[in-house]
Amino acid sequence: MNSNIVTIILAAGLGKRMKSGLAKVLHPVAGIPMILYPIQIAEDISSERIIVVIGHQAERVKGLLSDRVVEVVHQTEQKGTADAVRLAMDAIRGYQGMVVVLCGDVPLITSKTVSDLIAVHQEGNASMTVLTTEVDDATGYGRIVRGPDGSILRIVEDRDADEGTKAINEINTGIYVFDGRFLSEVINEIRPENVQEEFYLTDSIEIGLKRGLRVYACKILQKEEVIGVNSRVELALVDSLMRRRINNSHMLNGVTLINPESIYIDAGVSIAQDVTLYPGTTLQGNTSIGKGGVIYPNSRIVDSYIGHHVVIKDSCVIEESRVNEGSQVGPFAHLRSGTVLEKDARIGNYVELKKTVMGEGSKANHLTYLGDAEIGSGVNIGAGTITCNFDGEKKHKTIIGNNVFVGSDVQFIAPVKIGDGAFIGAGSTVTKDVPPGALAISRPEQKNMEGWVERKKKSK
Ligand code: UD1
Ligand code: MG
Repeated sequence: MNSNIVTIILAAGLGKRMKSGLAKVLHPVAGIPMILYPIQIAEDISSERIIVVIGHQAERVKGLLSDRVVEVVHQTEQKGTADAVRLAMDAIRGYQGMVVVLCGDVPLITSKTVSDLIAVHQEGNASMTVLTTEVDDATGYGRIVRGPDGSILRIVEDRDADEGTKAINEINTGIYVFDGRFLSEVINEIRPENVQEEFYLTDSIEIGLKRGLRVYACKILQKEEVIGVNSRVELALVDSLMRRRINNSHMLNGVTLINPESIYIDAGVSIAQDVTLYPGTTLQGNTSIGKGGVIYPNSRIVDSYIGHHVVIKDSCVIEESRVNEGSQVGPFAHLRSGTVLEKDARIGNYVELKKTVMGEGSKANHLTYLGDAEIGSGVNIGAGTITCNFDGEKKHKTIIGNNVFVGSDVQFIAPVKIGDGAFIGAGSTVTKDVPPGALAISRPEQKNMEGWVERKKKSK
């Protein structure tokens, strides 16, 4: 529906009040840098070009955007919102369509609201339409000054406002739609005549009105959407609102969240139907959960694939791993980077895996470390088994075939290979390869000294 839209995203501000070494727009909201939200909106409204104006840590921002179809314009000195827009307009010289301006630090805005704003702008045949809202405390925002007939006259910045103007609680959200021809002219006429000596984009309203053009202010009721992040207090507020939005959308898609206030799901995590998440579940990064699974309290899963009908018991950490259909993990298990559990595997209490493949139906139920191991299907790993994969300099592999039985308290001194169907006696230290079907046992033979305890007592 929206033909010819260029979206400009203003993101060059320093964010002084964040008191951070990290540029404001790189701070995460629901797990992803906040700049990605307005970029998503720009994509959702089918912008033909997206221009991001960046200043601080430009290289880092650029790196983050390298896989998106966006153009980056560098504003070396932050001389105001109009200066930032002027730089972006230089990149689209001669463009005649619509220009949408979004802010890099207003992540909760929805594409519905922006589309509605565009519709108002188009229907009114306006040169400029600004999105406004009413807030309880307007401190810091530009105030919307309307005339007797209710139409907008100008925006006055907090620092330039007299007491009467400060009492207005309708504010500028910093989101606008412009006619590209109007914007390209007006942007070069704005002068820094204000307390801050900055180029104010908001001055375009008066310039437009003086020329007899149509300028609209469109007020929305969802003031939550336009909260700007200036300090970490607002960051926390926006983060919690975003997470509530994410949790609600999963619930509406058929996921049960028990006490959703305690569940943290990053933007971009996918969860299939009929999954149940217990309190304290944290799902981060690029994680997906297959249908019908249950995640009991207090587990954290990062950048991992979890298949259908997987059960994760309490207090597990799963990082960069794949857990296939029907497997069970935990309680208190740690799957580190590069772990793969094939179908129906079982990983139990206090088990740690790293770069290890557990074959179909294989089990390690208690107190075990398996690192750099390839384990076949139908294998039983006894309690206390350890792969000694590190010799102080290098890592080595342990390869275990199918249907191997490993008794409790076995150490595999890698590199070592165990053939299919072999049997490893409890308490063994395995230093040599074991052929298929063989019994390997390496513990010293037991000696019983009859009457030893009684003799010891007497000698005291
Ligand atoms: C701006 C508006 C104000 C509005 C408020 C909403 C102006 C003059 N004022 O004020 O009316 O109520 O936003 O949040 O426009 N930026 C740049 N380069 C610059 C300056 C700013 O890229 O030189 C970017 C910032 O990174 C930010 C956005 O523009 O994303 C808004 O700038 P900010 O300094 O926060 O403006 P406010 O004073 O909040
Ligand atoms: Mg601001």
